[in-house]
Amino acid sequence: MGNIDSLKYEILKAIENATSLPELEEIRVFALGKKGSITGMMKDLGSLSIEEKKEAGKILNVVKDEILLAIETKRILLENIALNKKLASEKIDITLPIRTETLGRIHPISQVFEEVVAIFGSMGFSVAEGPEIEDDFHNFTALNLPLNHPARQMHDTFYLPSDANGDKDIDSSYVLRTHTSPVQIRTMENNQPPIRIIAPGRTYRCDYDATHTPMFNQIEGLVIDKKTSMADLKGVLLEFIKSFFELDEIPTRYRPSFFPFTEPSAEMDIGCSRANGELKIGEGNDWLEILGCGMVHPNVLKAVNIDPEEYQGFAFGLGLDRLAMLKYGIPDLRTFFDSDLRWLKHYGFIPLDIPSVTGGLSSNGGAVR
Ligand code: PHE
Repeated sequence: MGNIDSLKYEILKAIENATSLPELEEIRVFALGKKGSITGMMKDLGSLSIEEKKEAGKILNVVKDEILLAIETKRILLENIALNKKLASEKIDITLPIRTETLGRIHPISQVFEEVVAIFGSMGFSVAEGPEIEDDFHNFTALNLPLNHPARQMHDTFYLPSDANGDKDIDSSYVLRTHTSPVQIRTMENNQPPIRIIAPGRTYRCDYDATHTPMFNQIEGLVIDKKTSMADLKGVLLEFIKSFFELDEIPTRYRPSFFPFTEPSAEMDIGCSRANGELKIGEGNDWLEILGCGMVHPNVLKAVNIDPEEYQGFAFGLGLDRLAMLKYGIPDLRTFFDSDLRWLKHYGFIPLDIPSVTGGLSSNGGAVR
């Protein structure tokens, strides 16, 4: 037992100097493993007398505990060092600027969608939605377009196969909605006036050329209240069009038109010039048709149980894609749906430039060319 103190000292020194976990494990095995030096001394106790055994056993146990504690303490220390080293090597510098050449782009339609929502949002409108697979009742009948109404022909409708259970009731057959106007009906069915909504979304018609695609986007607007007039309609639309094109003044004119769900109905044109083949909004002597609108037809109000004697309102509908083409100078509607990354890079928008009426719609960044 004479050398226990120096052995203990040696082992503790080795533990203190260990620089890695495997090294520490080696020391543990050397001291306390099956063939370890301390273990060996414990085995040797058998040859001693009972008195000596008691004495030496006590000392050995204390030494063993001391060594175990030293190993455990060192293990925690080495593990911490290893963890900190790993964390330091995996550190990312989040203050680095983004590489714009690898950044995705917001599609011009999404951009215009956000712009329109921001403008009407600032005028107190909220956003309403409806299904793209619509029943005949909401898409046509409730909008004062009964079966066999000639205006149904104007819509180039995609009809869905009639109900599987052979339902012949035309009102429950389905179409891909031909306009966003059915959202007017759904909103009035589920809400009491006053109502002030816009409903942007996908619409479908069987048509295809440079200015028509089978799927396109519209924005519907609907206001229902006790005192709403054509003057309110004109005020809202003028405000919208000026904000959208970011111009202080834009000449507008209203031409009489026909929609079964509005009376009177009108189409709004905005002033433009087409000099030298270049379209410029807001100046010149030419006109550009931009949207359809009118006062909600009493039959539409009756279809949703709103009393036309007490309430009236106005509605408007416009093509979102066309707005995007006009504002951002995109010549062919079909390119919107080509999924061509080069096109998107050219016409797309930086994701963090969120349009707002006060912060700027497209001006705080705009398209990255
Ligand atoms: N739904 C009409 C269309 O698709 C547009 C419109 C909406 C006109 C609301 C008047 C009022 O052509």
